[in-house]
Amino acid sequence: MNTQTASNRFTGSDHLPHILLTLINMIFFVLLTSCAQSRPDLGKQLYREGKLSSGESVSATTQGDISFSGTQFSCVNCHRRSGYGSSEGGNYVLPVTAPSLFNPRTLDRANLFKKMFKEYQPKRFTARMHMPQMRPAYTDKSLARAIREGIDSAGTQLNPLMPKYQLPDEDMANLIAYLKTLSTMPDPGVDQSTIYFATVISDKIDSVKRRAMLQTMRKFFEWMNRDTRGDLRNPNFSPHYRTEFIKAYRVWNLAVWELKGDPQSWQQQLQVYYQQQPVFAIISGQVTGAWKPVQTFCENMEIPCLFPHTALPEIDKKSAYSVYFNRGLSLEADVIAKQIIQQQADKANIQITQIYSAEQEGMTPADAINNTMKNNNHVQLDNYVFHDIAELQSQLKKLSEIHERPDLLVLWPGAYSREVLEWLQDNPTLANTVYLPSKALDALPQAIPSSLKQRMLFSYPYEVASVQHPRAYRVHAWMNSRGIEVTDKRLQFNTYYALTLVQYGLDAIVDNFSRDYLMEYIEHEAENALNPGTFPRLSLGPGQRFASKGAYIVKLSADEESGVIAVSDWIIP
Ligand code: HEC
Repeated sequence: MNTQTASNRFTGSDHLPHILLTLINMIFFVLLTSCAQSRPDLGKQLYREGKLSSGESVSATTQGDISFSGTQFSCVNCHRRSGYGSSEGGNYVLPVTAPSLFNPRTLDRANLFKKMFKEYQPKRFTARMHMPQMRPAYTDKSLARAIREGIDSAGTQLNPLMPKYQLPDEDMANLIAYLKTLSTMPDPGVDQSTIYFATVISDKIDSVKRRAMLQTMRKFFEWMNRDTRGDLRNPNFSPHYRTEFIKAYRVWNLAVWELKGDPQSWQQQLQVYYQQQPVFAIISGQVTGAWKPVQTFCENMEIPCLFPHTALPEIDKKSAYSVYFNRGLSLEADVIAKQIIQQQADKANIQITQIYSAEQEGMTPADAINNTMKNNNHVQLDNYVFHDIAELQSQLKKLSEIHERPDLLVLWPGAYSREVLEWLQDNPTLANTVYLPSKALDALPQAIPSSLKQRMLFSYPYEVASVQHPRAYRVHAWMNSRGIEVTDKRLQFNTYYALTLVQYGLDAIVDNFSRDYLMEYIEHEAENALNPGTFPRLSLGPGQRFASKGAYIVKLSADEESGVIAVSDWIIP
């Protein structure tokens, strides 16, 4: 506006004093607004990392007037990334999202109902929930008082668990500016009627595995939507809380994002799919090789990426949107290393021969073994890498010609499980003990000589068949009643698990469509009750990325039928 006015006035010299005045006014205006301009980005840094604009850590006093400064008391620790608060440790941490702070507190029965009945809570939590003291909307001033003095907008003392922060005015303004952006709008991937999801699948995925996953997902979506339609058709036929839940109902839509060609181009391909239709979350999925390109996309776009089937997850402590069943091959390697060290504890010298494929499926676990063993003076580790089948065979041949056969052979065959196993079948006494990853079990040849059977051990990051989990029966029944062919039980049960977690998570967040909030619920709810029996335990905690943390070492059972038998306890490296 001001520029427009100024240029209009540049017409005659008699207007010069006017022009000068306007210019001076403009300069003042710019100076003033830039001084008062708060920086939500710096507020975000304060909220998430406890860092002031000066770069120093924030200071505060907490219960019993204990002063502290440091990042462990940043707002995010209690109010979480989403700002929806939490119920960790049985304390009810109030939400600090913009809609919550800048509106008078109302009794949202749907949200209240979910929090009270979804999970077990100690008495002091439910007591606080039953007495939600009403308060008016916060102003910037009353909000600053709450943060500095622990007094809310109604003048009521807040629970002393909420620290009292010593904040310079500038940082307070930044923080409040950031709080004003927290969960003001639903995240992308949701509209009035539909919530959009995608799964990711790359070319070269085995067609049986592809079909097993997609069929389970499609049937689940159909099933969810059939229920939703029924509820929407009868919105008035509702006991007390029903009408308030109706606003949360959405039709579930599944897109299958197919990735082709070079993994380097995947991020670009994902971006194109996303531009066509943003999704709220990516569920399950299978790609050849490392999951990293998908993870990078999810982290950049802040999209939850929930439980893909991958042996090569990206292990990145900073990731906020990716959760996995386990650490995959690097976990298997750590478990094998631990088992070897335990088994050979009484030996002065442990000799290990490691042969691995030059693909990532070989290098990742081989590196993990090398890392664990490098500081162990009792271990002598010889590494052989192969790039193709000819190189593999020549190395195995050389080994068999050595006059003293290796005691411990660790093999990471990558895509060559079948070839490696066939070779072992013909040379069963190649080594005293041969360790292989669980994936090699899928490539076992028909008849294995018992001399080889006795020597082979596998890392096995799953539950063994002899243990029955209560939920497995229900998942089976669900699959049967939907006419789903169970061709790959573990893959399908795990897919189902990911879907039920999303279902529970969305159910719990009601109509607060925040991806951060969904992630927080999943971290909280991924407990054992929903475990379909594929892993001994499944659980996450705030910031945890891997739901299952260990593996067994197994051998093949003597009879063909009963699969594998654990020879170790569940090892958590
Ligand atoms: C150690 C946990 C903890 C930390 C860290 C924490 N809070 Fe809180 N906060 C709470 C709890 C618990 C409550 C609820 C108090 C009550 O029930 O009376 C609360 C309440 C609040 C309220 C009042 C909400 C309302 O509706 O009246 C605001 C505002 C708030 N916190 C902002 C912040 C900000 C901003 C930070 C970071 C600078 C922060 N909190 C850090 C635990 C925490």
